[in-house]
Amino acid sequence: MVDQAESLRRLLSRQTRILAVASGKGGVGKTSIAVNLAIQLASEGNSVIMLDADLGMANIEIMFGVRPKHALSEVISGAMQMSEVLTPTPYGVQIIAGVSGMASAADMGQPQRLRLIEGFKRLASVDYLIIDTGAGISRNVIDFVLAAEDVYVVVTPEPTSVQDAYGLIKVLSGHPRSIIPEIHILVNRISSASLGETLAAKLQQAARQFLSLHVTYAGTIVEDDHVKKGILERIPFSVRYPHCDASLEIRHMAHELTSEMVISSGGSGIQGMIGRLFRKKEAVSRG
Ligand SMILES: Nc1ncnc2c1ncn2[C@@H]1O[C@H](COP(=O)(O)OP(=O)(O)OP(=O)(O)O)[C@@H](O)[C@H]1O
Ligand SMILES: [Mg+2]
Repeated sequence: MVDQAESLRRLLSRQTRILAVASGKGGVGKTSIAVNLAIQLASEGNSVIMLDADLGMANIEIMFGVRPKHALSEVISGAMQMSEVLTPTPYGVQIIAGVSGMASAADMGQPQRLRLIEGFKRLASVDYLIIDTGAGISRNVIDFVLAAEDVYVVVTPEPTSVQDAYGLIKVLSGHPRSIIPEIHILVNRISSASLGETLAAKLQQAARQFLSLHVTYAGTIVEDDHVKKGILERIPFSVRYPHCDASLEIRHMAHELTSEMVISSGGSGIQGMIGRLFRKKEAVSRG
């Protein structure tokens, strides 16, 4: 009985869900989507932390309208605890800013590595960790994408964006299957949901045919002026314009996430993330 109760408790106990938002081409809407998805998840009662893994850019803080005083690099250097670098926002989400110290994650010495691991372990009670990455396929971006359990690859209808999204998926496919996150295509800035679905289907087909990779379709966010208006007004669009098309889709995506009863296959919360973050470096240096 005790064993059964224990296993049931484990089954029901919540683990941190780690999601990355990435793209091949820049400027396709990653940060806008990540910020608003985080806010929506928080508004539904989840604890949410957003990690700004886009080196050198301060987009997240601008969109949240906050000025973080500290960054993850200070955890790595040993100057601060993880709890001290969390910046609260007016929307319930906490952010970890400017991870410039992470650029050298692959070459980190043992003390830095241990401090980073300890820091991430402290986040284990959080429901969602959302990682906003920079565009492209630099090692730093790929590191963070591989650390996640799920990655949303954001793509717009521009041919270069589609090509670069495929390029990103291809780079991911070159890693051991056990550490590739679930890949979800998220179409942004297109004129209709049906065109979005068609575009995603082409990428799914290419990934299946040429990379033997199963990629899912996460949804479409249509071109919507409210997204830009929100940025100009410094209020995230899903808060300022909760009924606009983009907000409705963000809400839909958040519901899809929260209604999934089972953590996706690669998922083992923060512990799994730490393993992936460092294990794949060994794989890379071996290969
Ligand atoms: N669905 C949309 N409708 C209209 N404009 C949008 C939409 N999504 C994003 N944008 C606009 O596109 C621009 C780029 O968005 P954002 O900064 O989120 O992209 P990004 O992929 O994070 O860029 P970067 O690669 O530089 O990090 C912003 O001006 C934003 O308002
Ligand atoms: Mg961005």
